[in-house]
Amino acid sequence: MADFGLAGTNDVPRRIPVGPRSFVYSANPARVLFGAGTVAKVREEVERLGGARVLLLSGPSRGAAAHPVREALGPLLAAEFDGAATHTPVEVTERALRVLREHGADCLVAIGGGSTTGLAKALAVRTDLPQVVVPTTYSGSEVTPVLGETEHGRKTTRSSPAIQPETVIYDVALTLGLPVPISVASAINALAHAVEALYSPQANPVVDGMALDAITRIARSLPAVVVEPSDVDARADLLQAAWLAGNCLAGVGMGLHHKLCHTLGGSFGLPHAETHTVVLPHAMAYNAPAVGAVMARIAAALGASDAPSGVYDLIERAGGPTSLRELGLAEADLPGAAGLATARPYPNPRELTGPGIEALLRDAWHGRRPGGGRAVPDLSWLTGQVVASFENTPDPRLKELLTDLVRRLHHYVTANDLTQAEWQRAIDFLARAGHITTDTRQEFVLLSDVLGVSSAVDVLTNSRTPGTTPSAVLGPFYVEGPPAAEHGGDIAKGLPGTPLWVDVRITDTEDVPVPGAVVDVWQSNEDGYYDVQLPDLDGPVLRARFHTDADGRLRFWTILPSEYPIPDDGPVGRLLAAAGRHQMRAPHLHFLIARPGYHRLITQLFVRGGPYLDSSAGLGDTVFGVKDELIVDFVPRQGATPDGRVIEGEWRLLDFTFRIQRD
Ligand code: BEZ
Ligand code: FE
Repeated sequence: MADFGLAGTNDVPRRIPVGPRSFVYSANPARVLFGAGTVAKVREEVERLGGARVLLLSGPSRGAAAHPVREALGPLLAAEFDGAATHTPVEVTERALRVLREHGADCLVAIGGGSTTGLAKALAVRTDLPQVVVPTTYSGSEVTPVLGETEHGRKTTRSSPAIQPETVIYDVALTLGLPVPISVASAINALAHAVEALYSPQANPVVDGMALDAITRIARSLPAVVVEPSDVDARADLLQAAWLAGNCLAGVGMGLHHKLCHTLGGSFGLPHAETHTVVLPHAMAYNAPAVGAVMARIAAALGASDAPSGVYDLIERAGGPTSLRELGLAEADLPGAAGLATARPYPNPRELTGPGIEALLRDAWHGRRPGGGRAVPDLSWLTGQVVASFENTPDPRLKELLTDLVRRLHHYVTANDLTQAEWQRAIDFLARAGHITTDTRQEFVLLSDVLGVSSAVDVLTNSRTPGTTPSAVLGPFYVEGPPAAEHGGDIAKGLPGTPLWVDVRITDTEDVPVPGAVVDVWQSNEDGYYDVQLPDLDGPVLRARFHTDADGRLRFWTILPSEYPIPDDGPVGRLLAAAGRHQMRAPHLHFLIARPGYHRLITQLFVRGGPYLDSSAGLGDTVFGVKDELIVDFVPRQGATPDGRVIEGEWRLLDFTFRIQRD
């Protein structure tokens, strides 16, 4: 099946070229009241629908929850029926119908879960009476026009506008007492609607948005409800997710997962929401190869690295059922269930094969985690404790940086399921970096360089002013206070190499020359070494300090810089080798330009046409220092030179204007 051209994460979908998406979408009209204490409005809502004699429906276990509805209805309450049963048996509906007729009811009010809603729908389709539904679970059936009924052990499903409840009152207060096991199974039932909506053939942007929002809400609030079942905020989040997921169910067709659950519920008597809970990760794992991009969006919404195992872990942590075995299915029933599920399949992104579905059901029966591996425990409590330990940090910026660092490090550890041995290797790496670091060798900066962090910080700090020359990293070979040099002098002091005449100007962003600026220059020799790397050299070479003249200009002779490896005899070198990365820098000349009243500029000019400039295919500069505007012509010349120096053969000319920012 097509995945509708959308891939990528939840917030930044990336288009892939599979043609335009097409869809038909009809919204289901219903009036929805959401909040805490909203049940008090039930009388008003009944009257709005023209009702004066209410039949109040509930299930036997939710009698207490019906009390606030009873109170709110007051004299409008004509009769009650508390016998709603799972899978909406027709004989129960007929009994309720007799009560309805006996009392001349003109409006139905249902309080409870999917079974009570089902009963209201079954009565409405027979009598055309209006319905007000007050859901206390997360099944979402209150917003769908679909009714599933059972008669003589057979389940039939139908859809009609008369089935759709006119008004839904969501009252968070009524959900606070929902037992945790039912909350978990019911929330995963809602999650299943959202998941299957995203790969439905009728998928569309409205439903996608609701589905992803529902998934995010369930993933974040279900664990909180498990810890504190009366957490009003988490309950509100879940209830809202249930409504959104119900809209998904109402808006688009469902696939393999729902077919499996209907088969297992209808033919093997398994409990509805619990079956959803066990089957969902496995149905997702079966479909994942056909809808990878959709699974990536689901994973992002879940905050997991993989969607099927992310759902499995969510269920396991919440203490939900993970195996069909524990729901009472016999292993011997698996082939029969697979046969029924493949006989009349629902539209599904991946073709259903008998052996494939049987393997899926077998995994679900054993309760295996999709993709194997072990479930990563939820460590949010630990993260919370560490973050809280910085609560009293007086410096607000330090507090922000420390708490965010802890959150991201903890996420890194859990998302990668880091082992003790791996963490120990990381610690050893840092220890070796510390041991090799001296006043002149900074392995931590080198690490930051090869991870691109130095360049990232540099761009954020220095390259945000339009119209100025971009900056580049300082590097480890800068030496404070280089020797002063004369304009027109030769800083290569006779070293071999292609002669290079440097003629540069410093201006502000309005092209006004900047005289008297201090300009430090340094570079590698023809073999790729800086002077500080060559202990036998007698004093500094290929580094100098100039002052710009009245025109903001400076000129000098040097040699063409060459590519060179960064120091690779320490842990960073070993890291690059382990990653199969080269350790080369593209040829460049360093500049540090400073003058009071202007922003200091630290940058490099790269030799156009030189090696290691192409960042594609892993062949770019190993410290990610190159920016397009810093790649410049070092023009090859022959013959006469600007200052009359006699050169046999080729020399190069570098002519460049640096633009710096006034304070
Ligand atoms: C340099 O350009 O000198 C340099 C920068 C980062 C790491 C190593 C060398
Ligand atoms: Fe360098």
